[in-house]
Amino acid sequence: MVSDRPYDIVLYGATGFTGGLIAQYSSARLARADSSDRALHWAIAGRNRAKLEGVRAKLDGAGDVGLIEADTDDPASLRAMASQARVVMTTVGPYALHGEPLIEACIEAGTDYVDLTGEPTWWRAMVDRYHERAVAREVLIIPGCGFDCIPADMGALFTAMQLPAGQPMTIDAYMRGRGSASGGTTASALEAMRGSGRGGSDRGSGQGLLTRVDALDMWALPSPVLDPLVVRRSAELQPQRYGSELRYHQYFGFRRRAEALGALAFFGVFYGAAKLAIGRKLITKLRPSGSGPDQETRDKGWFRFDFIGRGGGREVRAHVSGGDPGYTETSKMMSEAAIMLAEARDELPLRGGVATPAAGLGPAFIDRLQAVGIEFAVDS
Ligand SMILES: NC(=O)c1ccc[n+]([C@@H]2O[C@H](COP(=O)([O-])OP(=O)(O)OC[C@H]3O[C@@H](n4cnc5c(N)ncnc54)[C@H](OP(=O)(O)O)[C@@H]3O)[C@@H](O)[C@H]2O)c1
Repeated sequence: MVSDRPYDIVLYGATGFTGGLIAQYSSARLARADSSDRALHWAIAGRNRAKLEGVRAKLDGAGDVGLIEADTDDPASLRAMASQARVVMTTVGPYALHGEPLIEACIEAGTDYVDLTGEPTWWRAMVDRYHERAVAREVLIIPGCGFDCIPADMGALFTAMQLPAGQPMTIDAYMRGRGSASGGTTASALEAMRGSGRGGSDRGSGQGLLTRVDALDMWALPSPVLDPLVVRRSAELQPQRYGSELRYHQYFGFRRRAEALGALAFFGVFYGAAKLAIGRKLITKLRPSGSGPDQETRDKGWFRFDFIGRGGGREVRAHVSGGDPGYTETSKMMSEAAIMLAEARDELPLRGGVATPAAGLGPAFIDRLQAVGIEFAVDS
């Protein structure tokens, strides 16, 4: 697409832990793409020029990477940043604290937007407040383009595509994995839990807390995360892809009952601490902004979503899997989403709106994820 803007993509928050990893992934990925018809121009952005210069110096093709100063507390700087690019990807979170002014700036500037939120209450508010404006301006705002919510949302789409069309569908997803949290992820989880009870998140199907799933040889706990809200919105936005009605539930899966009970206890303590100012302070001290799992820890990370889909008299099992969920794979997911918006905007299913990864990017995004090592497969 021809554009009069200096950059195709801007990465906002490049000085943070996740932003730094996304900057590295994007620089290597975009340097590889140089042989294509037209190289994408991109920039890193943040509030601290000296820190940004330090990040840029370590990137492939650093000389070609732009640099933009913008502070969330200064809306004019956000508008100036948004108007210089066709797509903004942002890692400046917690989004409940920092996210909304950039969505406003992007809609005003006509710039597509992706983020890494996993915060249900904030996500719901952004859908309610900005969807109509984004549709009218033909801007795609796609929150949840990291481990929240891409494996669940794209995996549910992949599962739905294996079932007969036009019939009611049920999809249950079971998530397992190994990973560690950065400072920003911890802060966002604390913020989401502090705000929980104000509506938004999903608690599974309402069955007992711990259930046995013989079909997968697993124990399952309902998972109160953003994913199910996003998957259901995908079905609302693109109903033709999901049968006449979709029921979707998501669980944490465990091989052993004791592991599930241990996770439940950990979650209970974390949730209790998040409700208290002193608890939040202590946890934030243990995982400050800018910190996160080192390369060795990330190399041991993995995730797997198992899906059981039923509809039109058929049952299908499928899975989505990959490496370290929160950082290595999240970097790929967000960067690939932004690159797809920059490269294939005219081929996407929706023109504008506060969308979801599956509704906004469509099945072709599955191919892009597979090309960078995230597995989507039908098991039976
Ligand atoms: N969905 C997922 O799977 C997933 C995975 C990873 C991360 N995340 C989310 O991504 C976000 C970032 O996490 P992280 O660990 O990378 O956080 P972090 O290391 O604390 O980085 C936060 C970034 O935000 C910037 N920032 C803070 N306040 C700002 C302001 N007023 N104006 C401009 N920039 C500002 C910081 O800039 P300075 O460097 O100048 O302080 C830094 O670049 C969190 O919300 C986290 O939940 C989600």
